[in-house]
Amino acid sequence: MIDQTVTILGIESSCDDTAAAIVRGVPGVGGGDILSSVVAGQESLHAPFGGVVPEIAARAHAERLDICVQQALDEAGVTLADVDAIAVTSGPGLIGGVLSGVMCAKCLAAPTAKPLIGINHLAGHALTPRLTDGLNFPYLMLLVSGGHCQFIAVEGPDTFRRMGGTIDDAPGEAFDKTAKLLGLGYPGGPEVEREAFSGDPSRFKFPRPLLNRKDCDMSFSGLKTALRRERDKLVAEHGGLKQQDRADLCAGFQQAIADVLTQKSRRACASFKETYATNSATIAVAGGVAANTLIRAQLTDMADEQGFTFLAPPLKLCTDNAAMIAWAGIEQMALPDFDPHAEIIARPRWPLDKTAKPMLGSGKKGAKA
Ligand code: KG4
Ligand code: ZN
Repeated sequence: MIDQTVTILGIESSCDDTAAAIVRGVPGVGGGDILSSVVAGQESLHAPFGGVVPEIAARAHAERLDICVQQALDEAGVTLADVDAIAVTSGPGLIGGVLSGVMCAKCLAAPTAKPLIGINHLAGHALTPRLTDGLNFPYLMLLVSGGHCQFIAVEGPDTFRRMGGTIDDAPGEAFDKTAKLLGLGYPGGPEVEREAFSGDPSRFKFPRPLLNRKDCDMSFSGLKTALRRERDKLVAEHGGLKQQDRADLCAGFQQAIADVLTQKSRRACASFKETYATNSATIAVAGGVAANTLIRAQLTDMADEQGFTFLAPPLKLCTDNAAMIAWAGIEQMALPDFDPHAEIIARPRWPLDKTAKPMLGSGKKGAKA
């Protein structure tokens, strides 16, 4: 176990953001200093396809990782010699991207004999409130992005309990697919939100799946199908979509997602309080969908009503970045069994909760996350 200030290089390349960061902190102590956080997005590369194309993503990571690492070192005013260890996302994610990052990290660590730490991308998100706010364990986390949607009870740097999650699509994915169905741009979340501002959320009755179930699981794929049906009906009746139709469809869709997330968060808060018998509980959010104004507002009210503090880290740290990976590396160093020479394997799937059963619809290979 290491208990003095360390400087860590973090590397992230599991989806469509190539990122590198330098973070300084004391293992086991909440609150870190982000000396630099470089993120090279790939939105323009994937926009023509309305979603992330894995092969294009992997190539872009391979082209940019070294540039991002150099920039992160320069912006932090340090050299590789000042770095105590390298932390890299080794899963879950698109395997071509994960491999690019792992190989880059290995090639930096081997000749410099620096410890190399493989990080679960979801742990990076889940531990972000410790980096930004020094939050104490345990706390509740709602991770809601383009690829993930789950409630996690964060008990320690390496102890996570999955309290529920989506059994099919992630909400961000549903936003992106909806935008595509309505001829809007990519990424879909901000586009749908913009349309929804001038829409009537009550015109279309979209389903709120699984709300009658007492658990914290969610489903979003039916919503997208319902929206397609309404769109096709309008097109068949009027030969196309009017501006107001599109706005009303977006508003109804967004409201349905917000209602499901809010209601299931309410349940997760109640269950968290029961399990951990705590009076000063916090629910934190991460992931791109947490940028949505309506969802944020509803979650804030829900937290208030449940006696929870609502914590949303700055948006740049809610979405994919490497500062969270560097920080998760610092947290790993505090573990009594920390092994600086542990073997690192790139993993497309890597559930955060080692004890949870795989989710329904998670495929034959087991839960992605
Ligand atoms: O966390 P993130 O940047 O990347 C990963 O998926 O890991 O999240 C991206 C997702 C996209 O699906 C995007 O459409 C969604 O977050 N998103 C939003 C908003 N901004 C981004 N969804 C709803 N409302 C938004 N304002
Ligand atoms: Zn992510």
